This record gives sequence, C-alpha cells and structure tokens, in this order.
Amino acid sequence: MKPASRIVFVLTGSIAGYKACEAISRLVQRGHEVRVVATESALRFVGAATLEGLTGRPVLSDLFARGAALDHIELTRWADLVVICPATANTLNRLAAGLADDLLGASFLAHDRSKPWLVAPAMNPAMWGHPATKAAVATLQGWGVEFIPIGAGRTACGESGEGRLADPVDILRHIEARLARPANRQRILVTSGATAEPIDAMRVLSNISTGQTGAGLASYLANAGHDVVLLRARGSATAEAPCREETFFTFGELASALERLLVEENFDAVIHAAAVSDFAVESVEVNGVAQDLRRAKLDSRGTPVLRLRQNPKLVERLRALSRNPAVLLVAFKLTREAAPPAVATAVSDLFARSGADLVVHNDLAARVDAEIFPADIFHRDGQPAEHCATRGELAAALERRFSREASPEFSSTPSTHAPLP
Ligand SMILES: Cc1cc2nc3c(=O)[nH]c(=O)nc-3n(C[C@H](O)[C@H](O)[C@H](O)COP(=O)(O)O)c2cc1C
Repeated sequence: MKPASRIVFVLTGSIAGYKACEAISRLVQRGHEVRVVATESALRFVGAATLEGLTGRPVLSDLFARGAALDHIELTRWADLVVICPATANTLNRLAAGLADDLLGASFLAHDRSKPWLVAPAMNPAMWGHPATKAAVATLQGWGVEFIPIGAGRTACGESGEGRLADPVDILRHIEARLARPANRQRILVTSGATAEPIDAMRVLSNISTGQTGAGLASYLANAGHDVVLLRARGSATAEAPCREETFFTFGELASALERLLVEENFDAVIHAAAVSDFAVESVEVNGVAQDLRRAKLDSRGTPVLRLRQNPKLVERLRALSRNPAVLLVAFKLTREAAPPAVATAVSDLFARSGADLVVHNDLAARVDAEIFPADIFHRDGQPAEHCATRGELAAALERRFSREASPEFSSTPSTHAPLP
C-alpha cells in the first residue's frame, strides 16, 4: 500500500514524550510513513526500542553516525512534513539561533521551506512565558514554522498555566489538515465578534454579535487547507478547525491587533466580520458632575449621562495598513429590514470608503439561527450579487473566490484520509 504521507517526527527531551508515542502510533495506523529523529535528551525519556517498534524504522539521532552522515539533507528531501513533538524550550531557542551542531539543527537549516514544519511545544509555564522563548517562537513563526497550540492546565511539574503538549488526536488533526492543504493555499485573516467600549472599570457598551459567522468562516477555510488567523472577541465563538486564534476586547485592542498583524504578516485575504462599535464613551456625568471612571465603578444609585464619540472606521484603514497592497478585502454590511435601494446605497458607500473587493450584506431580520443567515455577496467590479442561503454557502462561495484569485486552474486537493475518530 502506498503511504498516505511521509512524516519526519522529531522528539526532544520533554516529559511529554510518552504522548508523542501515541501520536506516532496513530499516524502509522492511518497509513503514514514515519521516520523518527530524537535528540540525545529525548532518548532519556523514551527508549529507541519503543520508537523503532512503533515506526518499524531505526531512530536517527547522531549527526555523525557511520553510514548516515548525510541524513540531515536526505531527510528533508524525503519528508512531506516535519513535526517537532514535543518541542522543548531549549530546542526552540537553539533553532531560532540557527545552530546546526546536531541532526535536528542541521536538518532545520537544510529544510526545503516550501514544505511544512510544525512544532508542538511542551514545557513548564514559566519557560513558555520567558521572553527568550517568546522571542524564539516569534522568530520561528516569521520563518514560516507553524505552531500547534500549546495546552493549558496542570503540567507535569505540578504548576498550572500554558505549557502542556496538545492532545495526540489534536496533533494528528493538525498534521493531516496541513498535509491536505491546497497547492495554492491562502493566508487569510478573519475578524469576528463584538468590540466592547468601557463605561467604567466594569461596565461596557457592546452589541449582540456572537462571532459565529466569523468563526464559522475561519473553520471552513482552515478545513479547506488555508492558513487562517482568527482575531475574535474575547468570549465569542471559537473556530472548530486548526487555525491560529488571537483575541481582543475593546475597540482599541482590535485596532492595535489589526495594525500589528497586517503590518508584520503577509495576508492574501482579510475577512472583516467583526462587529466594531461605531461609538466610544467620551465622558460620563452624574448630576452634571464629570466622573473619572477608568479605574472606578459608577455608583448604581445615580443616573449617569453618557456622551459618546464616533470611533474611526477600521475597515477604511485595512488596505492601507496591509503589507500586501493587493490583499483581497471582504467587508460586511448588516442592515435591518432595509429596502433594496437603501441596501444598494449602503453597499456602494462601503465599497467607496473601504476599497473592499467584496461586500457581504446580511439582513438581521432574515437570520433564523447560526447557520441559516442569508447573505448576498456584492462584487466591486459590478458582477451580479451572489445569494447564499446559509453560512455554509457563504463560506464555500468565498473560498471559491479566494482559490480562483490564487490561480485560475486551482483545485483543492481533497484529503485522502479517513475521518478522524
Ligand atoms: C524530568 C525532566 C522533564 C523535562 N521536561 C521538559 C519539558 O517538558 N520541556 C522542556 O522544555 N524541557 C524539559 N526538560 C529539560 C530538557 O530536557 C533540557 O532542557 C534538555 O537539554 C533539552 O534538550 P533537547 O532540546 O535537545 O531535547 C525536562 C528535564 C527533566 C529532567
């Protein structure tokens, strides 16, 4: 039987090595061909015999092993994907420094960077939070290394926080999702959910957005193999597929996260589905007396008067901020029971102000539930609007557009793997 994919699975010296064995076992059971590289420290946690038994192949560890001196070059040519699991703090820092004095470091530098290199970190929460590790993660991400989200909870060292290795099934999911990616996968930023505008230290002005549309689109696009970042409101719907998530709370947090992501990273498309507050609280008065409430709580017995001011329109800044000037921008317009001419005016006004390529219009009154929420996609070039009866249809229509944009001959490579348990 032809193997599904060729995977180089790298173990480093973490107590979570036993979980990696389960991930290797599952990969092998699903038909993948796996070759294991282990650092010297990793072999103090998991025996070479276990790894050889699981993969049916010798474990590679020594850069200068007799008869295998060019393994670091050959391995990366052979592999469809490399994953380090678990990845220690030491290894992340060493790779970010470009050190090549062991098999792993040399393979990393020799790696063909058009192929995916994934990392599933595991370490003590303080090690994960240390500035050295954070800087290493940022450097590696900047080089295209993809991180499988680290888990939170109680770690082996008895501390709580972020540092646990992801569960073996999630590791498998990430690997297979990455292998199923289309040749012309796109990097897509999706914003979702409602911003909150502080009134005092505890109260906020917000809106009814749940973030389900944005999270649903992000999940669909990630499952289709695209590289998705979901920037969502704290407490809003999360994605159900492997994608990187960041959260915001206030308008200001969303504005700075957008600026950072668009300036530092290269996105092919931005779907701006977040429900951004049009107003911020400028001042609060009680009985004509101005209150300074940044750290205090408004007395519940008074009758406050809020003065609001307009927030700048984030959607109008996205194209100018974007490192990729040709970014495909999707803006959203929500109305309630507006007549078609009013919708047409609102949509063309949004095109003019934002420079968007597509505007998705929803009517709040037509929403049945999270899935059945009809939408019309308007095109900048004046093509007839595309009607989508459900959120799923909207996601599929946008995905087709992104893929066409990448290459006219584009076709997604469907996953050949059986569904995961
Ligand atoms: C019992 C034990 C558990 C350890 N677990 C981890 C861990 O989960 N993550 C980590 O970054 N380092 C861990 N370490 C420290 C690493 O093993 C150590 O930094 C080592 O040099 C890593 O080498 P490597 O990155 O080349 O595999 C642990 C050490 C011991 C003794």
